[in-house]
Amino acid sequence: MRRRWWLAVVLLVVLASLWLLLRPGSDARIPSAASTVGAATLREPGLLARGEYLTSAGDCAGCHTAQGGSRFAGGRALPTPFGNITAPNITSDRETGLGGWDFEDFWQALHAGKGRHGALLYPAFPYTSYTRVHRDDALAIFAYLQSLPPVHQRGVAPALEFPYSVRRSLVAWRALYFRESEYKPDPAQSAQWNRGAYLVQGLGHCNECHARRDSLGGFASKRHLTGGEIPMQDWYAPDLSTGHNGGLQDWNEQDIVDLLKTGQSAKGAAFGPMADVVAGSTQHMTDHDLRAIAVYLHSLPARATPAGRARGSTPTAVVAHGERIYAKRCADCHGKGGQGVAGVYPPLDGNSAVTEPSGINATRMVLLGGFPPVTAQSPRPYSMPPFAQQLSDSDVSAVVSYIRHAWTNRAAPVRPEQVARYRHTPID
Ligand code: HEC
Ligand code: HEC
Ligand code: HEC
Repeated sequence: MRRRWWLAVVLLVVLASLWLLLRPGSDARIPSAASTVGAATLREPGLLARGEYLTSAGDCAGCHTAQGGSRFAGGRALPTPFGNITAPNITSDRETGLGGWDFEDFWQALHAGKGRHGALLYPAFPYTSYTRVHRDDALAIFAYLQSLPPVHQRGVAPALEFPYSVRRSLVAWRALYFRESEYKPDPAQSAQWNRGAYLVQGLGHCNECHARRDSLGGFASKRHLTGGEIPMQDWYAPDLSTGHNGGLQDWNEQDIVDLLKTGQSAKGAAFGPMADVVAGSTQHMTDHDLRAIAVYLHSLPARATPAGRARGSTPTAVVAHGERIYAKRCADCHGKGGQGVAGVYPPLDGNSAVTEPSGINATRMVLLGGFPPVTAQSPRPYSMPPFAQQLSDSDVSAVVSYIRHAWTNRAAPVRPEQVARYRHTPID
């Protein structure tokens, strides 16, 4: 781990110096003919309504709102392996928000990951996905944000380790992982598929969680939506393909639409960071858009290696111990056969949240319990009690290993040491 870190530092410094030597001119943005958008255009009701919808599809408030704080006024610290980055104020306040920005400044941020005066932005702001957003959609979002009342709240500087604390070091990161690219429809696919791909790859920024990041926090394109652990948060966002070996194997389109719309589905409920995504973003999407997302996810290529269906063996005594705990503590809600109760308690048999490769999700659910998101269609969901107080690390390991291998589930066991580690992850 130490060695990887040093390699990363050396690589960053070498690339940054190369760039400093070779860079053309300065950071000054090139003014474009379309950069002046009139104030009247920005106030068009149709544009504002579309902007509101797209802003929620992008879940901008999710990061740009502190707990208990004003919407979009920033102040929420996002943990990364390199330190905390606090999301800034994006309300229309002149001094501390985007009040003084014109549309071209905003486009540079969303599309190119550059701040107002060309400063490079940290990719904790998922411009790696937002770069695909069309310019007219970006304009609608900008108009909507500018229409909201200004909130005066100063930003907090990032608290990062060297060399990441130097914004210029992002030059190297961007050379490795970032390309400006607007979404180009694939003419061989239907309009519905293209809408789904556009939302998933762009505003929905699904890949930011649903793919594994490497040690520098970047993505390899071949890992698109193949699942990964979310750094610093100890949750696993599963593979989103639906075919053989996929994380959503056997999910039909309706299951996906249900999960995104209501937080619940016949295959499992949303929890952890996904509960926030549903509550803040996908529940507000139209059925037309959710269906398009499901169609796109259904077209993702089959995975070569079983994701979440890893084999492994659990000692018989541990299985028996796990089965006893399950019968006593879990079966009342989830059913003896792990079938759950439709619309109330999620099934555990065939649930990819249970069989995902890491075992983190089931472990943390047992420790912390959980509330599915409150949505318009499911305003009072049932919750799951936490077991951190009642069950020891070896109890949790036994019951989780049991549900990962019971019924039709076939996933590797979780060890007591892993449980001990996840017990101490701070909640948000
Ligand atoms: C996953 C969290 C996250 C989401 C979602 C997110 N942002 Fe951000 N955003 C950030 C962070 C963190 C920064 C600060 C980056 C930095 O300091 O380099 C930022 C910076 C920005 C900036 C630059 C502001 C400035 O003062 O330089 C703009 C503009 C912005 N975001 C707009 C948006 C919009 C619009 C959306 C929704 C489409 C959005 N953000 C969604 C985390 C997020
Ligand atoms: C009082 C009813 C209840 C009991 C008892 C209960 N659960 Fe749950 N469980 C739920 C509910 C409700 C959810 C959905 C929570 C959410 O989405 O945040 C859930 C979710 C889960 C999940 C995540 C699956 C998903 O799709 O949401 C796992 C894994 C899980 N429970 C395992 C267990 C285990 C193991 C036990 C026993 C140690 C247990 N549960 C006891 C009600 C219960
Ligand atoms: C902030 C991180 C994050 C983002 C962004 C995100 N997800 Fe998730 N997602 C998760 C996590 C963590 C889980 C596992 C917990 C669960 O099953 O609810 C999950 C689970 C899911 C599941 C259920 C899978 C299962 O095995 O139960 C679906 C479907 C899904 N996400 C779709 C999406 C789509 C579509 C998007 C983009 C619109 C998206 N997610 C964006 C973190 C995220």
